[in-house]
Amino acid sequence: MDNNNGLAAEPWRIREDTLESSRAFLHETLFTLGNGWIGMRGTPDEGTVGGAGDTLEGTYLNGFHDTEAIRYPENAYGLARINEFMLNVPNAKRIAAVIDGERFALDACNVLAWERTLDFRTGLLERTVEWETASGKRVRIASRRLVSLGRKHVAAIEYAVTPLNFSGAVRIVADIDADVTNLQAGDDPRVGSALTGASLIETQRKVGSEPGAHDVLLLQRTRHSGFTLATATDAVPSSAARVEQVGLGHAFDADVAQGATFTVHKYVAYASSRDMAADAVGPHAHAELAQARAAGFDALAREQAGYLARFWEDADVAIAGDDALQQGVHFNQFHLLQSVGRDGKTNIAAKGVTGEGYEGHYFWDTEIYVFPFFLYSRPEIARALLQYRYNGLPKARERARQMAHAKGALYPWRTIAGEECSAYFPAGTAQYHINADVAYSIRLYLLATGDFDFMAEQGAEIVLETARIWTGIGSYDRAHRFCINAVTGPDEYTAIVNNNYYTNAMARMHMTFAADVAERLRAERPADYARVAHAIGLEDAEIQAWRAASAAMRLPYDDALGIHEQDDSFLSKKPWDFANTPKENYPLLLHYHPLVIYRHQVCKQADVVLALLLLSNQFSLDDKRRDFDFYEGVTTHDSSLSSCIFSIVASEIGYRDKAYGYFMETARLDLDNTHANTQYGVHTAAMAGTWLGVAYGFAGMRLDDAGLRFAPTLPDRWTGYRFKAQVRGALLEVAVDGTGTDYRLLRGASLTFAHAGTTIALDAQRAHIRMENPQ
Ligand code: BGC
Repeated sequence: MDNNNGLAAEPWRIREDTLESSRAFLHETLFTLGNGWIGMRGTPDEGTVGGAGDTLEGTYLNGFHDTEAIRYPENAYGLARINEFMLNVPNAKRIAAVIDGERFALDACNVLAWERTLDFRTGLLERTVEWETASGKRVRIASRRLVSLGRKHVAAIEYAVTPLNFSGAVRIVADIDADVTNLQAGDDPRVGSALTGASLIETQRKVGSEPGAHDVLLLQRTRHSGFTLATATDAVPSSAARVEQVGLGHAFDADVAQGATFTVHKYVAYASSRDMAADAVGPHAHAELAQARAAGFDALAREQAGYLARFWEDADVAIAGDDALQQGVHFNQFHLLQSVGRDGKTNIAAKGVTGEGYEGHYFWDTEIYVFPFFLYSRPEIARALLQYRYNGLPKARERARQMAHAKGALYPWRTIAGEECSAYFPAGTAQYHINADVAYSIRLYLLATGDFDFMAEQGAEIVLETARIWTGIGSYDRAHRFCINAVTGPDEYTAIVNNNYYTNAMARMHMTFAADVAERLRAERPADYARVAHAIGLEDAEIQAWRAASAAMRLPYDDALGIHEQDDSFLSKKPWDFANTPKENYPLLLHYHPLVIYRHQVCKQADVVLALLLLSNQFSLDDKRRDFDFYEGVTTHDSSLSSCIFSIVASEIGYRDKAYGYFMETARLDLDNTHANTQYGVHTAAMAGTWLGVAYGFAGMRLDDAGLRFAPTLPDRWTGYRFKAQVRGALLEVAVDGTGTDYRLLRGASLTFAHAGTTIALDAQRAHIRMENPQ
C-alpha cells in the first residue's frame, strides 16, 4: 500500500484488499457512487452495521430536502429563519445473502477474503468477498453497483453468490430499508443538522406479490417541505427461484450446485416532486425502473462506460511520473462529475452527494472553485449551474428586502432551494461577496463561450440585480472613497470588517461588468435591454452610479509593508502566536471562541491571495510576491479551500517548491483524509482546486479581457502533464513536458492565445505548435 488509507496508488481506480473496520466510515465516502442527483455512499450491499460514528448509511438526492425552523434563544431581526437540509432517503440498494438462516453482515461474519474497487472509467463499484458461515460453508459474493450517469433516476446492483465447498440452499434478500435518518449535529459546526425526528412520512407502499412481479414502490412525503418521494425497486433472479415477500422486498431461494452462481439483479429508481407533480412521481419511478430492467444490468454498465469515456476524452488531466498524484487528480475529477447537479434546479454541494457535512448546502464554492472545471470541460454543465442562480433570483430579491435593500438581489451564503440557511451570520450572511462571485462566474462564462444569448436571457438580469446591492450597502467617506462596511470576506477567521479587500475589489469588477453588460445589451439587443430594464426597473442613473463607485472604490493598501491590507483593521490586530499554538489546536475554529480568533492577525484561508488570482491582471508580480509572503505567514489553511489558491499564486511568482507542496495538499486531500473529516463527505471545492492548480497554476492559464494565455512550468518531480480546455467552441490540448509545450487545436475553426507573452493563432491549416517553456 502506498499510503496509510489502505488504497493502492493506481491511476484509474481506488482499490482495497483488506477489510478494516476503523476505515469503514471514511471509505464509505470515498467509494460513493453518484450521478449529480442520486448519491449512494459506498456502504456494504447488505446494509451497514456498527454504532453511530462508525458508519453512515447514506443515500441522497441532490437538492431533495426538508426544512426546519432555526431557533435562536436570543433573537435578532432578519436572522435566517429556515434551514434546508438534504435528506437521507430510503436505502434501496440493500441486498444480502443468507445461508442456513445466517445473514451475511460484515461485522458479524467471518470474512476470508475481501476486495473492493471503484473504477473511474467503468463507473462501477465492485466488491468480492469470501465468507465462511458458522457451520463452515464457504461462499463467494461478487457484487457490482452503478448509479447511472445517463439516467438521472436509476441505479442498479448485481449480486452473485457462489457456494465454494457445498451444494445447497442459497437465499438472497432484496429489500428497501426505509428506517434511515440524518446525522445529528455534534460539536463540529461542519457536520450534521440540528433536526429532530424522522423527516419522511410513509404515504403508500406496494410490494409485488404476483408470480414474476418483484417490484416495490414506496411513497413518502417530507414533514415540512411538502415534497413527495418515490423509491422503487425491482429484482430479477438469474434462475428459477422460490420467492417470498419480506417487508419492503422479496427473498429468493434457490438450490445451487457447488461452483455454480446464483445472481439477483436489482434495479432502483427514485423520483421526487421537486422535478414533477406529486402524483407523477410514482408512475415516473415505475417507468424508469421498467426501462432499466428491460435494458438489463450489462447494458446499463456499457452505457456507463460509454458516458465516462466521453467525459474523460475532454476532461482528463494526465500527469506523467506520479501515480499517487494521478490517482488523486482522477479521483477528484470523477467525484466532481458524480456530484454536480446539471438540471438548472440543483447545484453542487460542498460535500457533493457523498455525505451530510454542511447539510447538502451550496456555497460560493461552486462559482469560484468548481465552475471553471466544468466551464472548460463541459460548458453545458457550467451553464446549468448559472441557470440555478437565475432560478434563485426571486428568493434572493426577497432576502435583499429583508436586509433593508430597496432594490436588487442578495444571494444566500448557504442554501439548497434559495433560502438563506446560515444560522451564524458573521461567517454567513455577512459574506456579501457571494454576489460578486456569481457575477464573476458569469463574466468568465461569457469570456470562455461568447454566449451572449445566455446574457440576454438570464445572465444580464442576474448581474444587474446583484450589482445593485453594492450601491445599496456602500457609501462614500469624507475623502470620497467608496466604502463597503460591515461585511465578511472569504477568510472566515476575520468577520464583519470594513472594506475587506477581496469584497471591494470584486465589487468593483462586478459593478464595472454590470455597467458594461447593460450598455452592450442596450446597443446590441435593444428589445432585450428594454425587457430586462423594465422587469427590474433599472434606471440610467444606476449605471452611472456603478461606474462612479468602481472608480472611487477603497482598496486598502499599506505603504509601509507594501501589501494590500485584508481590511481596514487587519494590520492593527495582534499577530497570532503560532509558535505557541500546539498542533492539536488546529483547526482553530474547534478550539477558540470566534472572538479570540477575530482579534488576531490570522487567516483560515486565502482572501487577498484569492483576489491576486481572480483579478490577476490588476497586480504586478512584485505586488503578488509581497502579498503572498505576508499572507502565507498568517494563514492556517484550516479551510480546504485555501491550499490550491496558494499553490496557483506560488506558481505564478516562481515559488516552485511551494507551488508543488500546496498542490499536493489539495490533490489527495480526501484520499488521504488530511482534514480528518472526509467521512462526512468529500471537499468538492478542493477537488476542483486540483484542476485549477494544474491549469491556472502550473500551466499559468488565465482568461480575462486581455484574452487567453498560458505560461507553463513543469514541477520537478513530473515528466509531463496534459489537459484540454474548451474555449469559444474550440477544443485546445495543452501538453507540457520538460522543455516545451505542445498546443493542439482538436476541434473548432481557430483559436488565438498567448504563450508566455507570444501570440499564437491556431487553425485547421496550422493546428499544432510547440513552444519552449518560459524560464
Ligand atoms: C469555508 C468557506 C466554504 C465552506 C464550505 C468553510 O470552511 O471557510 O469558504 O464556503 O467551508 O465549503
